[in-house]
Amino acid sequence: MAKNPKDIKKNTKAAIADAPAAAKGTVPAKGGERVAPESGSRSAPIINIGIDRQDRAAIAEGLSRVLADTYTLYLTTHNFHWNVTGPHFNSLHAMFMAQYTELWNSTDVIAERIRALGHYAPGSYAEFSKIATVPDVPQQPPKAMEMVRILVKGHETVSRIAREFIPVAEEAGDDPTADMLTARCTVHDQTAWMLRSLLEE
Ligand SMILES: [Fe+2]
Repeated sequence: MAKNPKDIKKNTKAAIADAPAAAKGTVPAKGGERVAPESGSRSAPIINIGIDRQDRAAIAEGLSRVLADTYTLYLTTHNFHWNVTGPHFNSLHAMFMAQYTELWNSTDVIAERIRALGHYAPGSYAEFSKIATVPDVPQQPPKAMEMVRILVKGHETVSRIAREFIPVAEEAGDDPTADMLTARCTVHDQTAWMLRSLLEE
C-alpha cells in the first residue's frame, strides 16, 4: 500500500480519471477493485460541503479500509471473548468484551462518516475480506496468550492504516475525518499497549 498521502490521493484521482464512462461514479481502488461506490441521486442536491469530489472519494476509500480492518478486529475480539480458556479466563473474557464493544461502536462512526462524504459504506464479509489487512480469525481457537498476541498485532495494524490516511484527510481540509482517525489511533495504540503488557513478564 502506498505510504505517501499524495500518492494515495494521486492514485485514486488517476483511477477515477481512467475509469470507463459507465463506471464513473464509483471509485476504483488498487488492483481494479471498487471500494466505497459514490452514492447520490438526481432528485437530491449535489453534495457541497467544501471538499471536492475526488478528495471525498480518496477519503472514503481510506475510511473503507479502516472500517474493514476495524470490523475484522471486532469479530476476532468477540470470538476470543467466547473461546478463551485457561487460568486467566475471567479477566480476559471481561477485557475482550470491553474491547469488542468499543470496536463495534466505532464501526458505526466510521461507516457513517463515509456516508456523510457521499459514498456507500462496505458492509459485507465479501467486501471486508477483499480490503481488510487484518487477518481473519484463526479457525482453531489459540491459547489465551496467543490470542492476546494476535490482538496486539491487530490493533497496531488498524492504527497504522488509520494513521496513513490522516494526512489525506488533512490535505483535503476534512478535519472531522482527520480528528476521527486520530481518535481511533489513540484507542488502538492504548489497547495495544495494555494487551502487550500482559505478555511482558
Ligand atoms: Fe458475552
